[in-house]
Amino acid sequence: MNQVVEKALRGMALLKVSNIRHWTDRTFSFNCARPAGFRFRSGEFAMIGLIVDGKPLLRAYSIASPAWDDELEFYSIKVEDGPLTSRLQHLAEGDEIVMRPKPVGTLVHDALTRGKRLFLFSTGTGIAPFASIIREPETYEKFDKVVLTQTCREAKELDYGHDLIARIKGDEMLSELVGDKLLHIATTTREESPAMGRMTDWIRDGRLAAATGGPLDPASDRVMICGSMAMLQEHKALCEGAGMAEGSNSEPGQFVIEKAFVD
Ligand code: A2P
Repeated sequence: MNQVVEKALRGMALLKVSNIRHWTDRTFSFNCARPAGFRFRSGEFAMIGLIVDGKPLLRAYSIASPAWDDELEFYSIKVEDGPLTSRLQHLAEGDEIVMRPKPVGTLVHDALTRGKRLFLFSTGTGIAPFASIIREPETYEKFDKVVLTQTCREAKELDYGHDLIARIKGDEMLSELVGDKLLHIATTTREESPAMGRMTDWIRDGRLAAATGGPLDPASDRVMICGSMAMLQEHKALCEGAGMAEGSNSEPGQFVIEKAFVD
């Protein structure tokens, strides 16, 4: 290994990639073995990437697997001219990526006060941190009902989420943990599918309340939001309109937000 690369790798973990799955021409997922000693809280993200021209090229990626898992799972968008994803999408089994092993994030239980229902609102690859949260035992210890929503333009983009739910149902330990507490609402906006429309519209016109047993209530409901900037702002305004306060690690509240990965 030359000195430049050796220097770039200082403080980084090298992760071998496995189980690469291309879900659409715009999204893919992959797994890595969790490095010994690497700990994170379900819902957090880490900086991952590749060494390019002797330098680390890193982006923030939510860890889609739960904190107890031996594997780290990532779900990524592919951006044709994106500095990292244009390269990352060509990963092959056995290739290595780099990770700065310092996980952080606000989509964690520590940033929310106690409640009864947990709403996880996502668009696109914003579902990734919630793939972690819905496989985390603490989620079901703390909440009676967990509602995961994902909205995408087209039906095929919902496949990762549907597969995730099927994996949970097919896993003895997870299905027992989750029981009947988890509700998955998957909607499209630009292609016909069984459930259609933006979740922000579902909140406003009462469709979400009808599907979940009542409107957002600051006394008993907690919310995590992950998606584009516009989506975050709109959901945030709806939470605040319902009387909820934004939380953080240092000051837990009733809802938390985080921008999904972009390029
Ligand atoms: P729409 O098709 O009506 O724009 P994008 O790929 O642009 O990030 O969008 C992903 C999904 O998020 C789409 O289904 C899109 O709906 C939806 N979306 C975009 N902006 C918002 C918003 N402000 N609030 C809720 N959903 C949104």
